[in-house]
Amino acid sequence: MRSIILIAVITAISSFVKTQNMTTMKNNNLSNEQKLIYPFTLPEQRYSYEALEPNIDKMTMDIHFNKHHGAYVTNLNAAIKGSPAEQLSLNDIFENISKLPVAVRNNGGGHYNHSLFWKVISPEGGGVPEGKLHEAIVKDFGSFEKFREEFENAAKTRFGSGWAWLAIDKTGKLFVTSTPNQDNPLMDVADKRGTPILGLDVWEHAYYLKYQNRRPDYITAFWNIVDWKEVGRRYTELVD
Ligand SMILES: [Fe+2]
Repeated sequence: MRSIILIAVITAISSFVKTQNMTTMKNNNLSNEQKLIYPFTLPEQRYSYEALEPNIDKMTMDIHFNKHHGAYVTNLNAAIKGSPAEQLSLNDIFENISKLPVAVRNNGGGHYNHSLFWKVISPEGGGVPEGKLHEAIVKDFGSFEKFREEFENAAKTRFGSGWAWLAIDKTGKLFVTSTPNQDNPLMDVADKRGTPILGLDVWEHAYYLKYQNRRPDYITAFWNIVDWKEVGRRYTELVD
């Protein structure tokens, strides 16, 4: 009897260690596209500023991308230049963000979050996730509708400026969370930690020109442009 219990304990510990190693390895194996490194630059835009009309208007896209995201990139490079962080990816920097200057936290988060945001929205977006991501959403939230409700609630109730996220934790489980300002779930200051695969910018600069104070309308329109193929690809890259 004792030996059976011992074997069970050893098996459980081995399984835990294997899971931890697997997650670490996969985070290390993230493509360069996801591991942003100094000197930082604005990403290549895959579509024109007006391509997301009527969900996001042309002027908002132009100002948001060039002025807001552009400023995060400029300020981040200035904050990192000459420091040991020049050699680190933003993912690695976020692991210890609480020990670094606030300029790195705000502008590093700003660059990472917006780089993800532009990738997970597209003119061909909308619909629902398919394949493994859909199965995982049903498993972890009950249904796509329940996930959507939880995500919308996170986006609507974020007071002031911030982000809503769909992220994956170290055990492979999906979760919804929101963060203030330009924080994200990769940071050691986040309430719930994991790797985001979908993010929604709920700063007023993301929607005010078209929606003014109507953040819920902007959130509803967001579902028309979510690129579920890209979100699914990011999910698979982390769990496969
Ligand atoms: Fe933004």
